[in-house]
Amino acid sequence: MAGWATKIKGGTVSPSVPYLPGAEFHAYTLREPLGVVGQVIPWNFPLLMAAWKLGPALTTGNTVVLKPAEQTPLSALRLGELLLEAGVPAGVVNVVPGYGETAGAALAAHDGVDKIAFTGSTEVGKIIARAATGNLKRVSLELGGKSPNVIFDDADVDAAIAGAAQGIFFNQGEVCSAGSRLYVAEQHFDQVVEGVSAAARGIKVGHGMHPDTEMGPLVSQEQFDRVTGYLKKGQEEGSSAVTGGNAIDRDGFYVEPTVITGAGADHAIVREEVFGPVIAALPFSDVDDLARQANDSHYGLAAGVWTRDVSKAHQLAKRIQAGTVHVNTYHVFAAELPFGGYKQSGWGREMGEEVLNNYLETKSVIVAL
Ligand code: NAI
Ligand code: MG
Repeated sequence: MAGWATKIKGGTVSPSVPYLPGAEFHAYTLREPLGVVGQVIPWNFPLLMAAWKLGPALTTGNTVVLKPAEQTPLSALRLGELLLEAGVPAGVVNVVPGYGETAGAALAAHDGVDKIAFTGSTEVGKIIARAATGNLKRVSLELGGKSPNVIFDDADVDAAIAGAAQGIFFNQGEVCSAGSRLYVAEQHFDQVVEGVSAAARGIKVGHGMHPDTEMGPLVSQEQFDRVTGYLKKGQEEGSSAVTGGNAIDRDGFYVEPTVITGAGADHAIVREEVFGPVIAALPFSDVDDLARQANDSHYGLAAGVWTRDVSKAHQLAKRIQAGTVHVNTYHVFAAELPFGGYKQSGWGREMGEEVLNNYLETKSVIVAL
């Protein structure tokens, strides 16, 4: 570096700064913790979401105030106890349960908080981003999705059917990256719809603590109302349920695993995040049109591609606007792999090396030699 730091406007050199052509500097960067980090997490994977958030924040030397979802505070509180027991100093991790509108909002707005990390709905993500403007605290957001899962004509159809079913029905569909829009090459459409429907009918829905249960109830009355509301809206908009489509008549928030066909690209069931065991299947014939439809969403969290043609898979992976693209698989996560969203699915990435940037400032130090 040759003396650039002393250049001022007009190309002259500041007389107050010693400048010698060919001067040398020693420069280095420091990565420093941000300070106090607020983290607001959802209810769909309570312990996992706490782990995803706490690990990188603590590794980089921050302290944390963690607010678990009001539906699921207990595992976070227990984790807090275990951290103390393991020797993490008191005050480094603070678990503060409470409602979003009170505890969560206070954390997002607080001037003593240097960063807020959030996982949850896109709607609340926007509220948090606005609340953070007071002290311009750093913000990272992992939000909703409406992820396309694409089955090409040359796919292993049986594997694709199993993958499409797992992609939507895992965890009752209460998964941000659920593959909820299923695009199927025309010639396989009926077979795939029938296959995914058969898989849906075969799922043992029951009490979450019962060992035989494959799918439990939804988390809450609110979530039940939301999912059944979308099922009703789908009917009103003119799509139909090949299988499922209703609540299950038993005590608790149970909904039938559902496969929808006949939905238009502008229907709520295709555009909005249902966050339940509901998949909309749509036929396609042309790959360019398919890519356009896959990207026709304000979300961009995940996607799936099923094909035997490796180069086609990579080409589409490049075209799809999503933070994670699965090829001939679905719902694969790894600590090494950044996870997060394009567009309104969020800001920043969790996991991978990238997550560390969410929790660090970078400082350049320049020493004249
Ligand atoms: P939510 O976004 O309201 O709740 C998530 C977390 O944010 C909870 O800890 C909640 O207490 C907190 N929160 C709520 N309002 C807040 C506010 N004003 N300020 C700060 N924190 C606040 O999600 P909700 O209502 O439980 O579910 C609604 C929909 O959100 C779901 O149907 C689903 O579509 C989506 N969602 C997405 C998740 C994801 O993993 N991306 C997780 C949970 C929900
Ligand atoms: Mg909410």
